[in-house]
Amino acid sequence: MNALNRDLKKLTTWLEELKGQCVKEDPYCLTFHLMPKVGWLNDPNGLCHYNGEYHVFFQYAPFDAKGGAKFWGHYTSIDMINWQDEGTALYADQPFDCHGVYSGSALIEDGKMYLYYTGNVKEMGDYDYIIKGRQHNTVLAVSEDGRTFKHKQLLMTNADYPENMTAHIRDPKVWKENDTYYMVQGARDKEDVGQILVFASSDKVNWKVINTLRSSEKFGYMWECPDLFELDGDTVLMLSPQGIEAEGIKYQNIYQSGYYFLKGDFKTSNYTLGQFEELDRGFDFYAPQTFIDEKGRRILIGWMGLPDIDDLYSNPTVAYGWQHALTLPRELQIKDGKLIQKPVIEIEALRQNEQEWAVKDTLKVEAPKTFEIDLKVDLLKDDFELIIKKGMYLTYKKAEGLFTLAFDGCGYGRDKRSVKIDVLRNLRLFVDTSSVEVFLNDGEEVFSSRFYPEADERSIELRGHSLEGKLTLWEMKAMTIENKGDK
Ligand code: FRU
Repeated sequence: MNALNRDLKKLTTWLEELKGQCVKEDPYCLTFHLMPKVGWLNDPNGLCHYNGEYHVFFQYAPFDAKGGAKFWGHYTSIDMINWQDEGTALYADQPFDCHGVYSGSALIEDGKMYLYYTGNVKEMGDYDYIIKGRQHNTVLAVSEDGRTFKHKQLLMTNADYPENMTAHIRDPKVWKENDTYYMVQGARDKEDVGQILVFASSDKVNWKVINTLRSSEKFGYMWECPDLFELDGDTVLMLSPQGIEAEGIKYQNIYQSGYYFLKGDFKTSNYTLGQFEELDRGFDFYAPQTFIDEKGRRILIGWMGLPDIDDLYSNPTVAYGWQHALTLPRELQIKDGKLIQKPVIEIEALRQNEQEWAVKDTLKVEAPKTFEIDLKVDLLKDDFELIIKKGMYLTYKKAEGLFTLAFDGCGYGRDKRSVKIDVLRNLRLFVDTSSVEVFLNDGEEVFSSRFYPEADERSIELRGHSLEGKLTLWEMKAMTIENKGDK
């Protein structure tokens, strides 16, 4: 621990105590989603299952709800619903990460946790000049207990990345295959083409670039937060590209998150990428990361937020000193050539007070403050609309096969997003105090979004025309988060 580390720790703890109360008083404080204690949260980092516990690290800027130097916040849990707040795991306290412990991942081996991340350093002058101006260092921090990280080792600097790259190389995701370790990093080359660098290592410390993954046609200027994994016999390349123009109802957000199926060999130029598919159609979803747990499930957690949205929409939580949250953990599977996402089964333990209705066209009920809805559609001859808390509208237009999520003023600038879905079979909805996650057809399409309904508004209204089905409603209990304090 150096002097800077001690000061940052003191300052963070002091702020969390001072401002934490104000955050707790916010009626929009989430109850079953992970959010920052104070300040700003972005990408999930270092997701892993280690010694029987789930570890969720995240980009954390405690000093300002609108961002700033990033640390790694840390939550742990044995069941993904009862959490411990482990305090801040990594501070920006070294010359090679002094402007941010940027995103990265975890590798578990020999009883140790290896965290790889990007040490961000902004040089004097125009640090946003893309060719130079920034150091994006690859750093390793090792822990023997999953909680304390005593030493940080600088593994690579800009000089170690290929010549044709800009200073934008970041977000290492590391895994092991046979006897080799692999790492993918997001990159932007000097011609402004977003791509992924693949590195290999035999000892976890010395890395060499072995390949570059890019689409045949340019697809954005920067690819952030890559992830590459095998699932049900397919190779999935996940990424968050920047610089994609909207195309009809596609690519509506400022930046996207999605995946390609990769055919061939990611280690050589002998590969092809299929069609880019968006992972989520809502307003607030970015930089997802996956990991495998001890049950062998591939679980995804995303940032329920997006960078650079200030001119588009906002979050009133900033007035209470915090902003953004993580999505529910979702299990990934492949079905009919598509990646599908389902909230992990553990979340069902939060259900209580189940109510069920046979639906025939219309239904008007009172909802609890936070809830889950499962609507099974047996027969649908025409359109339907589900109106939640008078400000959120979920509509399905049967003739066009179009599903839309829309908000009025409670979206704080969020208007509407749509997706094509030919036959709607079911809809699952998780509504927290200020967020919604919609899963259509068992997770074929997902919408994640923040919204800010009137605190005492409780109505749920279904308006259908020739709709038959069953609607089940559960109140959602709050997750527990025990505060372990700082280390
Ligand atoms: C994605 C991202 C990453 C970076 C991190 C910094 O949201 O821009 O590329 O490592 O956030 O907080």
